[in-house]
Amino acid sequence: MSKLSTKRLIQSIMVLLATITINAKAQTITIPIETKQNALVLEVSSEKYLNTVYFGDKLSNPKEYNTISKANGLADKFDGYNSAYTLSGSRNLLEPAISVTHADGNKSLDLKYVSHHITKINDDVSLVSIELKDPIYDFEVTLNYQTYYNENVTEQWSVITHHEKKDVILDKYASANLYLQAGGYWLKHFHGEWAQEMRPEEEQLDHGIKTLDTKLGSRADLFQPPVFMVSLDRPSTEDDGAVLYGNIEWSGNYRIDLEVDPANGLRVIAGINNYAADYLLKPGVEFTTPKFVYTLSNKGKGEASRDLQAWARKYKIVDGEGPRLTLLNNWESTFFNFNEEILSGILKDTKKLGVDLFLLDDGWFGNKYPRNDDHAGLGDWQENKTKLPDNIAFLTKSAKADSVKFGIWVEPEMVNPKSELYEKHPDWIVKQPQRPEYYMRNQLVLDLSNPKVQDFVFGVVDGLFTKNPELAYIKWDCNSLMYNAYSAYETHQGNFYTDYVFGLYKVLDRLRAKYPKVPMMLCSGGGGRVDYGALKYFTEYWPSDNTDPIERIFIQWEYSYFYPALASSNHVTNWGKQPLKFRTDVAMMGKLGFDIVVSKLKPDELMFCQQAVKTYKQFSEAIWHGDQYRLQNPRENDVASMLYVDPAKTSAIMFNYLVNNRYAAGSKLPIRLKGLDPDKTYSVSELNLFPGTKSSIAEATYSGKFLMTVGINPDVHSERTSVVIGVTEIR
Ligand code: DGJ
Repeated sequence: MSKLSTKRLIQSIMVLLATITINAKAQTITIPIETKQNALVLEVSSEKYLNTVYFGDKLSNPKEYNTISKANGLADKFDGYNSAYTLSGSRNLLEPAISVTHADGNKSLDLKYVSHHITKINDDVSLVSIELKDPIYDFEVTLNYQTYYNENVTEQWSVITHHEKKDVILDKYASANLYLQAGGYWLKHFHGEWAQEMRPEEEQLDHGIKTLDTKLGSRADLFQPPVFMVSLDRPSTEDDGAVLYGNIEWSGNYRIDLEVDPANGLRVIAGINNYAADYLLKPGVEFTTPKFVYTLSNKGKGEASRDLQAWARKYKIVDGEGPRLTLLNNWESTFFNFNEEILSGILKDTKKLGVDLFLLDDGWFGNKYPRNDDHAGLGDWQENKTKLPDNIAFLTKSAKADSVKFGIWVEPEMVNPKSELYEKHPDWIVKQPQRPEYYMRNQLVLDLSNPKVQDFVFGVVDGLFTKNPELAYIKWDCNSLMYNAYSAYETHQGNFYTDYVFGLYKVLDRLRAKYPKVPMMLCSGGGGRVDYGALKYFTEYWPSDNTDPIERIFIQWEYSYFYPALASSNHVTNWGKQPLKFRTDVAMMGKLGFDIVVSKLKPDELMFCQQAVKTYKQFSEAIWHGDQYRLQNPRENDVASMLYVDPAKTSAIMFNYLVNNRYAAGSKLPIRLKGLDPDKTYSVSELNLFPGTKSSIAEATYSGKFLMTVGINPDVHSERTSVVIGVTEIR
């Protein structure tokens, strides 16, 4: 909950009359909200209801926006189908965006247009705010649409407030309510489980409501991540068709309703899940919903992804336009069994491998209840005296001596019942007072709605940095979802799920205010918490504990629709049956890391990894900050192919993998590249060759036009299952 900053208010330019176009005859107010390619057009009906009358390609003549509603039959509607924020308890009979119980117990809400204003934040970003008010009750909602013009992205959220005599209950309080009209809607959404993240499903929506949601509390996205896409008129492909992408920026229970209405329009309502979350709002307090981010492309999924990725790098992910650290992690190589000697060896291996940082994982803390497995110690964030007698300082010092950086794992929102924290602060823990405890991974969740718990969690991470200023990286894990959701702190239990996430964000806000750029990985026992609400605070996320490279090709592929590659932490491990080269190539498609025993590598394997790290750095501009092109989908082809082109179109890197082991499966034809400069000349050669092997692709030069028109065959087959090709401009 926050008020618009006074600075923003001062900056805000009231352009009421300039932006409102008034249709002289009907006296309608039309509000077009434009990005480079699209226009979302809102209109105020004669009875002052705010409706969406259009969302699609923008028109070249803005004067025509106020004639759209006549043409598409949405003029002056009051049935609520295309409401810009659907009400409940009054005239609307469809799924509401907002539903309340007023101070007097009445459940009806009527919101009418009062005014709107536009704030131009910079050349790219503008904010349209529209005030709505109930004519009877002292209850208001401001709808906010923040556009990122060049990226074709909009973030939408609502601010709800009231001045009734007593508290009001918000029974539903969505962030956004969109309305689209098309000749059919194809929804692609995702489901998952541990090690099975981002499994796609696509279906044509028919009449009624399809709801995507979670009720897991923390680690909320385990079963269903909060991202989706809807193709309009026909299923879109990479380069063809209209498609809407959406993500609710919320790291807790969310709910996205997609309703094909009786008039065949599509209503999309996205926000916090109101399941067990009737929110008590005191008079005069502003409730700010999370943002719902979306982009609409008329050129298929590829363009929508690149727009969203560009937006995320520029505006959302921490240091999205900066570099990333390559690393060696010890989770899979030691699990909980390590000591200073073993870790000193790993630090030396970090240097030997040529990566930037050593990341110490779980198991370094707890004394009364040592963290020697996952049954004990969570919550007691003091170095274990047996494993680390010289504390973390020993590791930061040794790292310095080895000229590498050092980072550490934490899971500060959680507690094991076997811990001193559990003994000292039972009231800080999410659990039902009268029911038996029930655990996931032998742990419980701390109650972050409680400011004291927020201080504690902040203190855990802040304490690590204060004591160890050289600490260069945090992996923030979150393994448990919430059973028996109950807060000893909250007076109104309906506020708990929502306040938990607000509490988490308060902690992360404080940390980022003090440590603005330190890299932090967002982990949740795999990808249980990947959304733009959380990624605002993190430099990267952990897509899955499943690092089998074949699985990762599929998992990383699906994440790539919504998130940029530099945010995807990909580690080379011993999962799967593929050779080291295959595993390394797949990990290079995002933020490269290793989680292997370096000392067990054979000399040629070590040499390969060292060279791969160098090659990765050479092409990092394309992988981290470039445009990503999904060339061949692993679900539809024997060979998966993914391309990254740097922003200057001077270098590109193409990854190709055999994903089908049937007889003679392989790349039969050239694969056409994309996104290059047709007039530039590029040299093409194979990268990441394992020592002793030769490439079957002759080094050659081609024009960008040739590579994009004819393409190149990476020659992938059962003897060459993983092929990486570098494309470099010749000047
Ligand atoms: C789950 C994470 O996903 C793993 O990478 C690892 O950090 C373990 N937790 C540690 O307990």
